[in-house]
Order: sequence, then C-alpha cells, then structure tokens
Amino acid sequence: MPTQEARGTAVISGLGSWLPSRVVDNHELSQRLDTSDEWIRTRTGIAQRHVVAPGESTVDLAVEAGKRALASAGVDRVDLVLLATATPDQLCPGSAPQVAARLGMNGVGALDVNAVCSGFVYALATGAGLISGGVASSVLVIGADTFTTMIDPEDRGTVPIFGDGAGAVVLRSGSADEPGALGPFDLHSDGELAELLWITAGGSKKRQSDDPSEFFLTMQGQAVFRHACARMAESSRAVLERAGLTVSDVDRFVGHQANIRILQGCAKQLGLAADAVVANIEHTGNTSAASIPLALADAARAGDLIPGHRVLLSAFGAGLTWGSTVLTWPNLTPA
Ligand code: COA
Repeated sequence: MPTQEARGTAVISGLGSWLPSRVVDNHELSQRLDTSDEWIRTRTGIAQRHVVAPGESTVDLAVEAGKRALASAGVDRVDLVLLATATPDQLCPGSAPQVAARLGMNGVGALDVNAVCSGFVYALATGAGLISGGVASSVLVIGADTFTTMIDPEDRGTVPIFGDGAGAVVLRSGSADEPGALGPFDLHSDGELAELLWITAGGSKKRQSDDPSEFFLTMQGQAVFRHACARMAESSRAVLERAGLTVSDVDRFVGHQANIRILQGCAKQLGLAADAVVANIEHTGNTSAASIPLALADAARAGDLIPGHRVLLSAFGAGLTWGSTVLTWPNLTPA
C-alpha cells in the first residue's frame, strides 16, 4: 500500500478490451424472433453483438481485458482491482478477487462495483478516490458484463439490444495537469425507478420462483430511453461546469452505448456536434459496464480519439444510476 506521499490524481495509463468470439448478427436473430435487421438498425443502431459461449463467463472476459490494459500500461501489477459488473460469475462472492488471482495478482485488494451500465464510471470514481485518498497508487478498473446470460432468449424487447464484452483501464497516481488525469465526477441515482430495469428473482428478496421469467431482465424501454437522454445530458453539463469547461471545449463524447438514438439525442440536448459522438454500438450492442472502455479502445485504435482530445464520459444504467467525468486523452496504445 502506498504512503501518504504517494497521494495524487488518478491518471489513465493503459487501456485494453476484449470481446467473446461468437458474433450474432441481426439476421440470425430475426430467424428465431419476430424482428428484422431493418427494425433493429433503425431503432437502435445495432447490427451485431458478441455473445459468450456456454461456460464462458464475465470473469473470463474481465481477465482478457485486464491483461491487455496492464500490457498497454507496461505494468504487471497494481495495488487494487475494481471490477464493474452486474453479472458476476456467482451471486456470492464478488468476482474481482478471481480476476485478480487469474491475472497473477493474488493478494491485492479486489472489489466488485455494481452500478450496472454506469458501473465503469462509478468504478473510475472509486479508483480515483482511493488514489487521491492515498489508499492505492495504482488501480486496474475493469468493466465486464455478460447480459446475454440474463435475458429471456424469447424477448424481442431485450435480446436485440444486449451484447457481452469487457474493457479496462489502468489508473496510476499522477498530477492533475497531465494528460489522462481524471477530472471531477458527477454521480447520481434514483432507486424509486429501480423497476424500470429489473430482475425480480434470484436475490435475497426472492431466492426462488416458479416463474422462469422472473429470473430474466425486464425493461420498460421507452421510459428508460427518456431518462437516459435527459440524465446523461444533465450530468454532462454538471461535470463540465465543475471542471470549469463548456460544451465547446469537448472534442469527443463517449456516452454509454445503449442505443444510437440515445447518444444522438443526448448530444443534441447538449449542443454537441454530431462528429464528436463516439459510437461503436453497431458492432457491440449494449455491453453494460464494458461499453465505455470498449468504445474508448475502438476509437483510439481507429484514430478517432487522439492524444490531446478533451473527452467527456457519461453513463446511464439500471438502479437507476448515472454519472460523468472528463479528461484530456493521454498518449497510449490500447491493447
Ligand atoms: N422488432 C420489431 N418490432 C419491435 C421490436 C423488435 N425487436 N421491439 C418492439 N417492437 C415493436 C413494438 O411492439 C411496437 O409495435 P407497435 O407500434 O405495433 O405497438 C413498435 O415496435 C415500437 O415499440 P417501442 O417500444 O415504442 O420502440 P422504441 O422505439 O421505444 O424502441 C427500444 C424500443 C427498446 C429499442 C428503445 O425503447 C430503447 O432503446 N430504450 C432504451 C433501452 C436501454 O437503453 N436499455 C439499457 C439502458 S442502460
């Protein structure tokens, strides 16, 4: 554990991502569900998603993304592993210790963060706070989810939307004025609306159910859509104000990849140029906590995100939860 002198600002120093190999495109879905490639593309912007194979799990994806983020940062060890996930391998214990062990870091602090699709931004905030508080000098923050294992395979309302994946960053202690330094955070929740995105059974409230549908994710799509646009825009404005910035200072907006129309609607509410919106949802679907680091990695690989860009990150998810942060993109090579 670091000494008091090691306290600093959390700086992103590595980035990695991983997708399961099986790809399911809209045409394949429309053979077994009452839907079409045209409907899914038009209403969501999604053309395909990656799906775990039987037995392949969130920990498997998290380990691959984590390994790549460590390699990208040029380190083989950190003080702490944070795993943002709402789909851990088991209900108990959390999955982060297994990820740390499989990454060759058995013994380091390891903790799951469950803020569903906002999980990566919440875990970044947690890691940044632990670095600035002197608890850790380096943190591996992984966002990994396998929501295709939690949805009803017959439900055309959710199946087209979700995909599986993982993305990760390494945070190290640095100074607030260097590229990669995480700016202020804005975090919120509204538990009164929890049932808009909800799995009824399986937890302590209802361990068993004779109704198999109660173990699947249910979603009130239109209400979620409205909240996602409004809350991400509000939170983005709040974090920019806290950072002393305005919308015109933003080069890239990396929002949670839930629906291309949500990203575009949020950008419009903010007054952001359309080409500032980073979107990889077409080939990943909604990967929940993995979506922001996956989008960052894809954009950086494509040269659409370059060192010096001011990047606004904003997420929204079940809970409800939402939050944002802002940073200047550092010089790194995603792995
Ligand atoms: N294929 C074909 N038709 C479908 C369909 C599908 N997969 N799903 C719904 N429809 C139909 C509906 O039955 C409805 O038909 P009707 O007009 O005859 O009644 C019509 O399409 C419109 O349905 P609606 O629910 O209004 O669609 P929508 O434009 O709101 O899009 C979502 C649905 C789910 C794509 C959209 O609401 C959404 O993205 N919500 C947010 C979801 C989200 O982000 N969740 C995760 C948050 S982290």
